[in-house]
Amino acid sequence: MKLISIEDYNPNYMQLARPIYDKQKRVLLGAGRTIHPVYLKRIMELDIRYLFVEDATSFGITMEELVDFPTWMDAIDTVNKFYHAVSKNEELPIRELQKQVILLVEEVSKRKAIVLIPASSLAMELREYAHSVNVTLLALQIAKKLNLSQMQVKDLALGCLLHDIGKVLAKGVEDHSRVGFEYLRKIREVSLLSAHVCYQHHEAIDGSGAPRGLEGKEIHEFAQVCAIANLYENSISKDGLQPHEAMEYIMTKSGTLFSTDLINVFIQQVPSYIPGTQVKLNNGRRGIVTKIIGNVQRPYIRFLDTEEEISLAENHTLLITEVLNEKKST
Ligand SMILES: [Fe+2]
Ligand SMILES: [Fe+2]
Repeated sequence: MKLISIEDYNPNYMQLARPIYDKQKRVLLGAGRTIHPVYLKRIMELDIRYLFVEDATSFGITMEELVDFPTWMDAIDTVNKFYHAVSKNEELPIRELQKQVILLVEEVSKRKAIVLIPASSLAMELREYAHSVNVTLLALQIAKKLNLSQMQVKDLALGCLLHDIGKVLAKGVEDHSRVGFEYLRKIREVSLLSAHVCYQHHEAIDGSGAPRGLEGKEIHEFAQVCAIANLYENSISKDGLQPHEAMEYIMTKSGTLFSTDLINVFIQQVPSYIPGTQVKLNNGRRGIVTKIIGNVQRPYIRFLDTEEEISLAENHTLLITEVLNEKKST
């Protein structure tokens, strides 16, 4: 299995590996099928930009690092319901949200590395919620290295799931962290810490952030974790960067937006090259990333010509020099 841009889809040799959903979260196209051009057009009209496909080069790549699809969709559904209840001033599905927090914590803890499903593989209407779920998954992956208690992990996750809730209530986007905080602090089941994750997720350690311009240690570590995850998720889902580009972008913010220590944790925890990525190496050979074991930045690669599989962790002189899109690799 691999993740491709929708423009790279070729019905002659690719089958869908994961279902495609419409905006009501109904399956539009099931896995294992070839996408008919008429459907492909419809999917493009939904502005869905990424597909998981199966083809000969990606055969045998199971992407065990990938977030479980039903778990992901259920969490998105719950965040969607929560936003809806806030906007309509109805009873909040807080129990359901707490249940999703536990499921997401389990989802991340059972994997060495976590590969996100891009929010832009869903219809536009669902992306805001998918963004929140992805931010939470990334934050939980970082949190593995922070020696937190179970309670703290849950507070971090809930804060991340609701970090943008203020957008429902705020007039302008600028003030959404403050508005979100004021709202969340009044909910008995939401801890003050979770509310502060929301309040401080646009603060920067050099004091250039909003809404209060907090500096350095004034910003809670959990809010910084949320902020890093937020910028990374947006750079992939909204700006269309590839994972290795998003990683470089995050690294450029070390010491200005984010603490260097947390950036270092992020680098240890989030892979730059996800399984299914076709790459060129400094020895001129082409390969595909097959799995991540051990060092997340040094994955296993299968050469496209001989199908021999090697570990970059054990081959210190080999470097990835280029990521190949479909056209370049064939
Ligand atoms: Fe935000
Ligand atoms: Fe956000």
